[in-house]
Amino acid sequence: MGRPRSRAQELDPDNVEARTEWLAAKVMGRWRSGASLVLAPHRDDPDLARPGVCNHFRYEDPLDPDSDGQRCPIASHVRRSNPRDSRSGSREDSEKVISRHRIIRRGRSYGTPLSHADARAGRDDGVTRGLYFICLQASIARGFELIQQAWLSNPGFHGLANEPDPIMGNGDGTGHLTIPAEPLRLRLANVPVTVTVAGGGYFFLPSLTALARIARG
Ligand code: HEM
Repeated sequence: MGRPRSRAQELDPDNVEARTEWLAAKVMGRWRSGASLVLAPHRDDPDLARPGVCNHFRYEDPLDPDSDGQRCPIASHVRRSNPRDSRSGSREDSEKVISRHRIIRRGRSYGTPLSHADARAGRDDGVTRGLYFICLQASIARGFELIQQAWLSNPGFHGLANEPDPIMGNGDGTGHLTIPAEPLRLRLANVPVTVTVAGGGYFFLPSLTALARIARG
């Protein structure tokens, strides 16, 4: 039962680009197209990134669970920023708890992607690039701050040991990353800092009801 598991050793050792994409997907929890690793464990499948499909998955689906993260690592960004039915307790309890911390989020990237060759060589091509992270929620403490502190930055998230979010890191590049696999997991030590914060702000956005009341005077 269950989908076949993803194994690093099944990748062609000479195809560095494919191995790089595989590692990037394991770090994020989604492939470049947006397809989830739960649905597409081995390779990117843009068909599974379509609206209406890309979010139709659970980590603890009774017929097809990924409890140990063999497909989508527990430490990956997408799995820990929205653990869905896998946080703790029953699947229903987890979804109830998670629903209290949901945010409406949009990431907007700018700049051209760094080439594989430059990335692997650790070379800066001088181009400015990054991501605008924008999210809306009723409570910043229960939304953005809880997700960031309790799930993303937490090195002990869901039984992990010294594993902060692999893209956010802990600021000094001493965090580890475990990629579960059979027969042996892959444990990457001292994941380097790849993302730095350039700035940020909290803004108050009045609700439509509040705007209507202000308009009425
Ligand atoms: C360090 C900078 C960050 C980068 C580069 C980043 C990047 C990404 C990317 C590429 C995705 C997957 C694309 C998608 O599903 O739209 C994603 C998903 C997500 N991120 Fe981040 N992110 C960052 C920080 C954060 C922070 C600080 C939070 C919240 C406090 C957050 C919350 C989320 C959520 C909730 C998802 C969706 C998870 C899901 O699909 O179930 N991210 N992020």
